[in-house]
Amino acid sequence: MVTPQQILTELKKVKYPGFSRDIVSFGLIKDVEVGSLGVNVVLAPTTARDEVIEEIRSMVIEVVGKLAGVPKVEVSLSDPPQPARRMQSGPAGIPGVAHVLAVASGKGGVGKSTVAVNLALSLVKLGHRVGLVDADVYGPSVPKMLGLHDRPQATNDKRLIPIDCYGLKVISLGLFVADRTPVIWRGPMINKLLTQFFREVDWGELDFLILDLPPGTGDAQLTITQQVPLTGGVIVTTPQDVALEDVKRGIAMFQQVKTPVLGVIENMSYHICIGCGERGEPFGHGGGSRMAEQFGVPFLGELPLVRAVREAGDAGTPLVVAHPEHADSMAYRAIAARLVEDISARPVEVLPTVH
Ligand SMILES: Nc1ncnc2c1ncn2[C@@H]1O[C@H](COP(=O)(O)OP(=O)(O)OP(=O)(O)O)[C@@H](O)[C@H]1O
Ligand SMILES: [Mg+2]
Repeated sequence: MVTPQQILTELKKVKYPGFSRDIVSFGLIKDVEVGSLGVNVVLAPTTARDEVIEEIRSMVIEVVGKLAGVPKVEVSLSDPPQPARRMQSGPAGIPGVAHVLAVASGKGGVGKSTVAVNLALSLVKLGHRVGLVDADVYGPSVPKMLGLHDRPQATNDKRLIPIDCYGLKVISLGLFVADRTPVIWRGPMINKLLTQFFREVDWGELDFLILDLPPGTGDAQLTITQQVPLTGGVIVTTPQDVALEDVKRGIAMFQQVKTPVLGVIENMSYHICIGCGERGEPFGHGGGSRMAEQFGVPFLGELPLVRAVREAGDAGTPLVVAHPEHADSMAYRAIAARLVEDISARPVEVLPTVH
């Protein structure tokens, strides 16, 4: 009779759909039961997407079924997909939302919103259910980047319906203010709106909710990150020294809310000359990775300064949608895939819901 170990060895040949990593190292196999009637492989899926689970199920049946001495293969699922990580104390999670990721930057204009939008859409392309909250109260730019104009509708029970855009569910403060209305909401007003975004939006089931924070790492940002339990933070920076100093503050901010930093992304890291094709590094390069190393946080990658990125953003169709094969789009996809892998590899802390 085969041993569970032999079966695990076979299962390591099955790649998680859309990833280079196998389902065993993804932590997807909860148990392997070998009985006289056959084998039962128990999966603990981290996604609720039926088609992904089905694909894994049929691949498992195929590889295990080929082993000699296995009369029958069954695949069962352990508990339903993991709910949002709950902390013992602190804010309650958003029902139906598995992971909330915050994108932060120490200062403005580093491309944080561009990164948040393109990352969110890359996660959609990888088959995940994704939402995006534009929490930038000072300059909500997500509607422009996605070409959104309509004010969200509400359900009968007064929950806001996020706008569906290229498969991404979006809600932004910018959708509630007319163009050119000065956004001078302060303190309590901002908090009330954001609380509404977290609590009174009909997100449905989401694998990831991405939060585009306002630039900076002060009190305003801290207040937002305290509203929901975050799975992790992503810090966007540019290569200038001064921006790198800001990374420190970003890390410190996430530490304050006990949120792991999933990584640092260096944006506008270099540019490719259109005329000669040479790589130019106006601000030096590699600072992001050095900084990440120094602080012991992962470096997720560098994104070049590309005119198409700005043009796509200005035109309301982000790069990963307008030019999916562009080198930058691929870089975004790789970063998105890496984030998913890293998150899946983390132990999920599932605590009982406190009533
Ligand atoms: N890699 C890139 N290549 C070229 N242009 C870029 C790149 N990343 C961002 N941009 C452009 O830089 C400008 C600022 O980007 P973005 O609005 O995303 O920054 P931000 O950090 O969110 O700014 P803010 O502080 O205002 O919220 C935009 O015009 C955007 O299109
Ligand atoms: Mg922004």
